[in-house]
Amino acid sequence: MTTWQSSTPVTVAQRFQQVRQQTLALCAGLSAEDLLVQSMPDASPGKWHLAHTSWFFEQFVLGRDPAYRPRDPAWLYLFNSYYQSVGPMHARPQRGLLSRPSLDEVWAYRQYIDEAVGELLIGDDDPELAALVELGLQHEQQHQELLLTDIKHAFWCNPLQPAYRGAIAASTGPTPVPLRFVDGREGIIEIGHRGEGFAFDNETPRHRTLLQPHALANRLVTNAEYLAFVHEGGYREPGLWLSDGWATVQGEGWQHPIYWQADLASEFTLAGVRALDPHEPVCHISYFEAEAFARWAGARLPTEAEWESAAQGVKAGGNLLDKQRYQPRASSDGDGITQLYGDVWEWTASPYVSYPGFRPLPGSLGEYNGKFMCGQWVLRGGSCVTPRDHIRASYRNFFPPHARWQFAGLRLGQDR
Ligand SMILES: [Fe+2]
Repeated sequence: MTTWQSSTPVTVAQRFQQVRQQTLALCAGLSAEDLLVQSMPDASPGKWHLAHTSWFFEQFVLGRDPAYRPRDPAWLYLFNSYYQSVGPMHARPQRGLLSRPSLDEVWAYRQYIDEAVGELLIGDDDPELAALVELGLQHEQQHQELLLTDIKHAFWCNPLQPAYRGAIAASTGPTPVPLRFVDGREGIIEIGHRGEGFAFDNETPRHRTLLQPHALANRLVTNAEYLAFVHEGGYREPGLWLSDGWATVQGEGWQHPIYWQADLASEFTLAGVRALDPHEPVCHISYFEAEAFARWAGARLPTEAEWESAAQGVKAGGNLLDKQRYQPRASSDGDGITQLYGDVWEWTASPYVSYPGFRPLPGSLGEYNGKFMCGQWVLRGGSCVTPRDHIRASYRNFFPPHARWQFAGLRLGQDR
């Protein structure tokens, strides 16, 4: 098991070192071949994640100096993701073709960026620099999660179905607390980033919104509950599905969550194939599947405002990346609403759109979030592969409704 640094850094420079080192720790045990494979257009090779997160600092931090010369101008093209305003980029579905530069060259690139940014931070208390570095670190933490979700998909595609880490606890989780609904707040409330600490632009501005009478489930939906949906013909009943969802079920031949085996008794995890734990939260489902399950259960998905109102004042904790479990875990304790943070990202009923008064970051970094506000759905709360100091009540993740390779599940909500 790798060493996970859990101490709280006190300076930007220390935090920079810690987050960058954590990315390397996640790669421990992965071969050069593991880090090159790209299993589908939506996923990226580990090597590309390693280089792209370094590119982000080169482009947006080191590149602020007009005299700065890039380490290799061709790499600005290779490792740009989607920032059209800084230049063209290599096609995303073909990132797995980049056998050059070699992995060793990418490690050296990371080292080069670490030293250059580290030097910049020595004795520099420029708040704008600190904010840019923090954005780069939050970006890197997003890619830490993607690195794991993408290697999980790649390993699942390999007939050997290898383990990323073999030390995940056996699938004998505790019995979950009985499902019950807890009344939420109603009336006018405020959501969005309050102003202390880091937030992405899409979490702003804080604003008023109206909550109708509603209740949220006290825990996440479990594998056993989802298995009942499968056994009772959930994937064969078009009346349960949105039209686009049913078309996807038909077109893709979906019959169960992506990593469940056909026997419905085992699943692929980052520890390899193991028995399906009925008590663990169901994971790796699309918005379409979450929505259909909720309808089958006589409930609905919570809105993001309902979720955030429940999470306000709750400290981020639980089964997050620092636990090194890499797998959701059953909720066995706690009154009120549990599992808000960690385990699985929770699909919400809310489309990913801008908040009233939203202003993207100035310049090229305005492309980070705002331009994706079309055709995607909001997920809340983080997962078992989300870094603990990366998640908060106002955090808005987003994916298209068919995406199921992320650690995503659901909590039920209902009208009152
Ligand atoms: Fe990125």
